[in-house]
Amino acid sequence: MTPNLILIFFLLHLSLFKFVPRAAAAGGQWALLQPNIGIVAMHMQLLSNDRVVIFDRTDFGLSNISLPNGKCRIDKTDTALKTDCSAHSIEYDVASNTIRPLTVLTDVWCSSGAVLPDGRLLQTGGFNDGDHAVRIYRPCSDCDWDEIKSGLTQRRWYATNQILPDGRQIIIGGRRQFNYEFYPKTNSDSKAYNLRFLVETNDPKIENNLYPLVFLNVDGNLFIFANNRAILFDYTKDVVVRNYPKLPDQNPRSYPSTGSGVLLPLKSFQGGKIGAEVLVCGGAPKGSHISAMNGKFVGALNTCGRIKITDPKPVWIMETMPLARVMGDMVLLPNGNVLIINGGATGTAGWEFGRDPVLKPVVYWPDNSIGSRFEIQNPSTIPRMYHSTAVLLRDGRVLIGGSNPHMYYNFTGVFSPTELRLEAFFAVVFKFGIQ
Ligand SMILES: *[C@@H]1O[C@H](CO)[C@@H](O)[C@H](O)[C@H]1NC(C)=O
Ligand SMILES: *[C@@H]1O[C@H](CO)[C@@H](O)[C@H](O)[C@H]1NC(C)=O
Repeated sequence: MTPNLILIFFLLHLSLFKFVPRAAAAGGQWALLQPNIGIVAMHMQLLSNDRVVIFDRTDFGLSNISLPNGKCRIDKTDTALKTDCSAHSIEYDVASNTIRPLTVLTDVWCSSGAVLPDGRLLQTGGFNDGDHAVRIYRPCSDCDWDEIKSGLTQRRWYATNQILPDGRQIIIGGRRQFNYEFYPKTNSDSKAYNLRFLVETNDPKIENNLYPLVFLNVDGNLFIFANNRAILFDYTKDVVVRNYPKLPDQNPRSYPSTGSGVLLPLKSFQGGKIGAEVLVCGGAPKGSHISAMNGKFVGALNTCGRIKITDPKPVWIMETMPLARVMGDMVLLPNGNVLIINGGATGTAGWEFGRDPVLKPVVYWPDNSIGSRFEIQNPSTIPRMYHSTAVLLRDGRVLIGGSNPHMYYNFTGVFSPTELRLEAFFAVVFKFGIQ
């Protein structure tokens, strides 16, 4: 072939590979993308330039990738290393399957964020010197983190961010924070507002309401789920508009009994009104975290609750998953299905408190009739426990990374070693793909 033909052939081949998951058998297909990305993919976010920004925590000790240009981070407050020349954030370029180290200075561990309308990621809070930080990551081929060390009014560790229609973010909760605030700040609105719901759902012994699930409802209010129940909240007036019923079994679904949830694709219900439904799956029964601390790993929840949040008399409809799961991730697929992936079958989130990795993802078909909605997928070979993530890519694949239930990077002599491999999973998204 002439060089041009080779190029055309190559591009054709590449585009087929990219946009049509060839030979994606029913039950999905796995691919190892990178044997070692240098850090734990504790947090991942896809950006508009088709790159994924990935980060873990600055006090994990040495990572397996150096900071760019021989830089070092000198941090007197770091709990692991005062001088650290390794990186704790990278950028993954999906198209070229390459990585580049980034410089994050403040501790992003268990921080939270959301993408702004202009495409920048705004990531707030974290641990230690990062608990009041606001960090901005702009998508471009040689950008790096920008950090504002005391951008927040309160410390935010395990909080949740939601982008609002006016482009601001609301930042809700976090450990020992029973309040919320907005970012960016304005002169007239820079304070934190108390939120009783976070007090009411807090179990003082284990703080079972962290990382609340937050979704913007079609009526402009926020659906906020924590522990085993939810409210509808008007953030413009600081009032709870509605209390949803508790989940029938009353078991917690928030960290450390970590379940997960999605806002299902919107659709019109009877009368042509747009309705919204939320699906919350997995978690760990009440008492599991204390049991796990005492070395007893209780079976995770195998239920999902689905609720029509726009209904005047909403009720939770419970469904049974084929596999129990704690610390699962839920990802909306391009065809409206929900992928339930990662996590374990016993124990809880938190340091070394999870066991029995669940290697098989499950696809949920929201429009099938109850009883025929779950479809077990082919397994991975890599456990993805505490501190693992999954994110949808532009071509329909799901990027999977992370897992490290330890205080440092520990590769040998531990249960569930630190995991630096990056994988992709594709469910059967394109029914009529070219084979
Ligand atoms: C990363 O790990 C590899 C394999 O163990 C090792 O050879 C390499 O030196 C490490 N790199 C850094 C920057 O830690
Ligand atoms: C984990 O790694 C840290 C830091 O390298 C080390 O001090 C610790 O002993 C390791 N733990 C185990 C169980 O190997």
